[in-house]
Amino acid sequence: MEDTLESILAEVRAKVPELKTRAAFEAFKATISGPKGSLTQAAKGMGKVPAAERPAMGKLINRTKQEVEALWTASLAAIEERELRLKLGPPIDPTLPSPDSSPAARHPLTQIRQEMNAIFRKIGFTVAEGPELETEWFCFDALNTPADHPARDVQDTLFMPSEVKAANVTKHQVERYILRTHTSTVQIRTLLREQPPVRIIAPGRVFRRDTVDATHSANFHQLEGLYVDRAVTVKDLKSVLDYFVREVFGKGAKTRLRPSFFPFTEPSFEMDFMSPNLGKLSNKWMEIMGCGMVDPNVLTSVNLDPDRWSGYAFGMGIERIAMIVHGIDDIRHFYASDLRFLKQFA
Ligand code: DAH
Repeated sequence: MEDTLESILAEVRAKVPELKTRAAFEAFKATISGPKGSLTQAAKGMGKVPAAERPAMGKLINRTKQEVEALWTASLAAIEERELRLKLGPPIDPTLPSPDSSPAARHPLTQIRQEMNAIFRKIGFTVAEGPELETEWFCFDALNTPADHPARDVQDTLFMPSEVKAANVTKHQVERYILRTHTSTVQIRTLLREQPPVRIIAPGRVFRRDTVDATHSANFHQLEGLYVDRAVTVKDLKSVLDYFVREVFGKGAKTRLRPSFFPFTEPSFEMDFMSPNLGKLSNKWMEIMGCGMVDPNVLTSVNLDPDRWSGYAFGMGIERIAMIVHGIDDIRHFYASDLRFLKQFA
């Protein structure tokens, strides 16, 4: 009996390190601890042991069973660990360089905005800013846009709830806070702070109640321009915009001004351009911005005398410029954070 138990234990000890799968483990365990297993059978032999030897033999059987049980537990743990390793693949070495080590890069919209800023800075414009949360006065009234103008409709503009308080943006009792629908607000903010001559651009985020599709986003970016001085003319406007268009789209680019309407400029224009080197978009007139001569009412609203001062203003969508430059056909690519898209601009 003793020898039998000893050899069973030796067999288990020898075999356990070779067990690699659950199936092999279960099959072998059955031959020892199963109903017909050698250890189970040996324990049944207790009946034939002489009474005097039984207590000692009982102890031996129990100790053997405990040792075998411990070996089963250890064996199963080793098998589970092996399974997990196989599932996870080779162990990670955190000191190795990443296989996907593309360097960080600026977002394409940031790149274009910075290029546009640099183009205007070169000819004396400085960059101005204003808040994204605005008041109706800065967004509309001061820009000669009366209360019944369609742009002020809740259909187009995102109004803040009346409870909203913004300590850093003062408003009149009667007006509401809104999210600015254009960067033209920065014209007013700048003219209230600085005396002309003023020559600024204002890149920034704007908000509209638009349904999102390939060319519309409820949240996009514009770049505003403003020049106020004595005796500013349409010729000044045209020459600055011609320079800008040629810097962005190449020396062969042509522009044209079409009469249009904006409440804050008079006369107002839509500027189109075409360029010979834009791939599929070559030599096609494309609209890229609104512009015009600052309306006298706008000057009056910032306490400037329209008989002494005049100016021009323009505003364009930064996404639109980036889409034309890069031949991107869906504005939503800019906001999807898809690395396959973004890496093309690294
Ligand atoms: N604010 C206009 C818009 O969001 C764009 C614009 C047009 C700006 C004419 C101007 C301008 O400064 O003169 O559509």
